[in-house]
Amino acid sequence: MISKRLIIALDTDDFNLVKKLSAFFDPKLCLMKVGLQLYIAHGKEVLDYLSEQGFEIFLDLKLHDIPNTVAKAIKEIQKFNIKMTTIHSQGGVEMINAALDQSNDIKILAVSLLTSLDKQDVSRLYDNDFEKQFEMLLKVITDTKTHGIVCSSHELVKISGNNLIKVVPGIRNVDVSDDQKRIMSSKAAYENGADFIVVGRPIINSENPSEEYKKYL
Ligand code: C5P
Repeated sequence: MISKRLIIALDTDDFNLVKKLSAFFDPKLCLMKVGLQLYIAHGKEVLDYLSEQGFEIFLDLKLHDIPNTVAKAIKEIQKFNIKMTTIHSQGGVEMINAALDQSNDIKILAVSLLTSLDKQDVSRLYDNDFEKQFEMLLKVITDTKTHGIVCSSHELVKISGNNLIKVVPGIRNVDVSDDQKRIMSSKAAYENGADFIVVGRPIINSENPSEEYKKYL
């Protein structure tokens, strides 16, 4: 049996749906991701619920603020039973270090470039080439002791020799048209070195989530 490497994104505001969905999944096989929508809707209550069901939790709030504010937010996150959480690498070295100072057992993952951004978006936002922008952010991340990185599977090749925990969203096993632009199948992402993949809509919106999620393990 391979180690647990699928993170299911519970992107909903509906607590009853969370209860229904989480009953389909085996906590020995996958982690649950609580993102902005669910956290803002149900906060601590949903985190406690998932934890009681035996799930390890990835709290994905992508913190991006001044170092003091981020450090204090991470200190609050310590009060929950969380395995990993996210900050934006664009907050800079000082912000990342402030987060790490408060991290204790929680793994801090730095988001590089969102998987919804393509080359054109990056050029418009940063007036920079996609690859150069990624490398610049990677340098920021590796100048710290950040535990892991969130990136698309297309960037994995650039960090193959690096011992960062590699968490990869933008996973699509069938062709769909949505906001994710830098996508790859789960099989290819694992083969390219993803330690964890993050899958939301393809599982939670499927007709049969209890069977569908097994295709991504
Ligand atoms: O539904 P889908 O599979 O696109 O969900 C992907 C999840 O991963 C979303 O919850 C999104 O917030 C998250 N994510 C992402 N790209 C990043 C970081 C996180 O899509 N760079």
